[in-house]
Amino acid sequence: MSGTPRARPKGTQDFSPPDSARKLHFENVFRHLAECYGYREIITPTFEHTEVFVKSSGEASDVVTKEMYSFKDRGDRDLTLRPEGTPGVVRAVLENRLRLPCRLYYVGPFFRYGRPQKGRFREFYQVGVEALGEASPLVDAEIVYFGTEFFRSLGIRDCTVQVNSIGCRECRPAHRDSLTRFLAGQRDRLCADCHVRLEHNPLRVFDCKVETCQAALKDAPTPRQYLCAACKRHHEQVLTELSRRGLHPEANDRLVRGLDYYSRTTFEYISGSLGAQDSLGGGGRYDYLIEEFGGPDTPGVGLAIGLERTMLAAPVAPVPARRQLAFVVWLTEAELNAAQELADRLRADGIPAQVDYDARKVKGQFKSADAAQAACCIIIGPDELTKGVYSLKNLATGEQREVSSDTVSAEVRKLFTD
Ligand code: HAM
Repeated sequence: MSGTPRARPKGTQDFSPPDSARKLHFENVFRHLAECYGYREIITPTFEHTEVFVKSSGEASDVVTKEMYSFKDRGDRDLTLRPEGTPGVVRAVLENRLRLPCRLYYVGPFFRYGRPQKGRFREFYQVGVEALGEASPLVDAEIVYFGTEFFRSLGIRDCTVQVNSIGCRECRPAHRDSLTRFLAGQRDRLCADCHVRLEHNPLRVFDCKVETCQAALKDAPTPRQYLCAACKRHHEQVLTELSRRGLHPEANDRLVRGLDYYSRTTFEYISGSLGAQDSLGGGGRYDYLIEEFGGPDTPGVGLAIGLERTMLAAPVAPVPARRQLAFVVWLTEAELNAAQELADRLRADGIPAQVDYDARKVKGQFKSADAAQAACCIIIGPDELTKGVYSLKNLATGEQREVSSDTVSAEVRKLFTD
């Protein structure tokens, strides 16, 4: 079917029930946790002016050079489907003049044109937090910890944390010079893309997945070797705070995280069960980004987590065979109104209820109840209508008994919790 208009576009996916419910559950766990840490939700557009991403993620980043869904609209504007959340959030905070400091979270779809594979999609979902206006290393550590709490609460155990520091404006030039000199000596071993990276931002060579480039970087000077005293202190405080919280991250000197806006702390969560696309999420500090967007000199730090990868890594709870749904079955046209009224009464009591208005025969209605995976049927026939009772049938066990009109909601609820 691939390539036909009836198939979904490459790299996208459908979330049908019950996966859609599982996804919503993960999002809700995230929302709750983020609110617990003082974050509030921000909803930004799924597309922005292309410049927003080019300026922040960086001209030499893979995201900008290879992965953006960019287009011109009918008004000749250059727009891009957001490949990540941070630039849009910063843009929105400044445009809407939100009071700083502020803590924001987001949940939604993002778009990157990559080669689809397990855990890598062209449309994917991220959950993320951004703390704008907070400079303390304790915030970096709190955010790293926050991510591990999210994974822990979803039952993900084989997740390790990697941390690095890539320094600040003070110390980066020295590292950049040293790295440029080193890479000049390795030119022949670098791929064509890395030659371009070398021109624009040599740090981006660390992002390259090509084996020969990775090998060429073996003895490359690392950002951590060049940290200034203030960055060193910041990094040490992050590590101390993480260990105080019981986290002992791996040091990864090559973790520069593919996007240009980072400064000082970078971190990533790695899953042991995902294969090649093993990064569950990551983030870092971006103390210059807000200023680069024309805002005040304001620090920032945040993370984003990939929802699909999280769903792949988390244990799958068994899905109950039946849903908490009551199906009201009517025997003859004369009971149709009563059936519909009962469904409304159940709904008003907070009980999901459905009526099949089309099936003229009871058998057809039972089939619909089964297709909907309803937990029970409530049958109304002429006898029931006269006596003011209903027949409640448990579809899991087949057991059927009479219940009174007064107790029907309570009886259905009991059956839901059985
Ligand atoms: P990122 O590392 O580019 O960071 O993406 C974060 C996470 O999104 C990845 O670790 C991965 O789980 C997921 N992800 C990325 N691309 C794909 C894809 N094509 N398919 C499926 N999942 C994917 C950022 O986006 C930064 N904005 C994070 C951040 C927030 N830094 C500071 N604040």
